[in-house]
Amino acid sequence: MTVISLKRQFSHAVDDTPEDIVLDINVEDLSFGYGKDDKATPVLKDLKLRINGPQLISILGPNGVGKSTLIHCMNKILSPTSGKVFIGERDLSEISIKDLSKHMGYVPYASSDSFPLSVTDTILMGRHPHSKWGKLDDDLRVVHKTLQMIGIEELADRSFNELSAGQHQKVMLARGLAQEPKILLLDEPTSNLDIRYQLEITRLLRDLSHSQKMIVLMISHDINIASKYSDNIIMLHGGNIYATGTPNEVITKENIEHVYEVGCNVIEDDGRPHVILKDNVTAEPFDEPHSVVSVS
Ligand SMILES: Nc1ncnc2c1ncn2[C@@H]1O[C@H](COP(=O)(O)OP(=O)(O)OP(=O)(O)O)[C@@H](O)[C@H]1O
Ligand SMILES: [Mg+2]
Repeated sequence: MTVISLKRQFSHAVDDTPEDIVLDINVEDLSFGYGKDDKATPVLKDLKLRINGPQLISILGPNGVGKSTLIHCMNKILSPTSGKVFIGERDLSEISIKDLSKHMGYVPYASSDSFPLSVTDTILMGRHPHSKWGKLDDDLRVVHKTLQMIGIEELADRSFNELSAGQHQKVMLARGLAQEPKILLLDEPTSNLDIRYQLEITRLLRDLSHSQKMIVLMISHDINIASKYSDNIIMLHGGNIYATGTPNEVITKENIEHVYEVGCNVIEDDGRPHVILKDNVTAEPFDEPHSVVSVS
């Protein structure tokens, strides 16, 4: 009986009410390799993962470990070589892209994408899954609210293609949020932002995940910011999950040294782990002190 009522709840949600989407992502024995069949180089191998309930969750791991590949398998950009992804009771492979886009947003890695559009129109593209005739005012209200949330109202009428890299990233983030998804996947969303915005945007993502009851899944290379704000961490290594749990459980000296192959110390800051990197290579001493050339 319980299973039937869960199924009903979800199929209703997919067709009509995004608010009721089941916040439960289940990755079962997922494998993926790029290339054809036996020539494919395996990237992810029999990966198992369950994300349940609203939270900010960060994926950490070295370059090339498969972080982007994993989220591409969760949003249908890629199809797993084997294994399945479920959202609630529903098999992802059976959910249409159109239905999925009502519930799942995706902010890709900062790319050189260009849109010959104003910032407002670029963010308005995020409303596409919800667009209905005669509802443009409602959509514009959401766009305006999102511009305010990210703190970029002054960019509203600028041309997207004229913006700096950090401004681009904020607009793409706004586009993802304007979609009002219940599950939001972000690939290094703060990589081009200055330190103030790295903090503000990550805090905003954490707060939204709690207040709007969303799963916000973010790839990050900034271990300390991920540690400060994430409810949970997924650490990838060797094509699979190396550790999952709270920042205190995952961000340990042993795990960081093993996965990233760097020396470090981990101290506590505000109850969260904070990684201090160590340079284990002794530098050659300079004979001559180098000075900065200044023009007066
Ligand atoms: N389109 C592709 N064709 C072939 N191989 C690919 C393709 N995209 C990624 N790869 C390879 O798959 C592996 C995983 O790549 P992925 O982009 O998922 O890594 P990542 O963990 O996101 O790394 P980064 O931190 O550098 O973004 C890498 O070895 C990469 O070279
Ligand atoms: Mg990547």
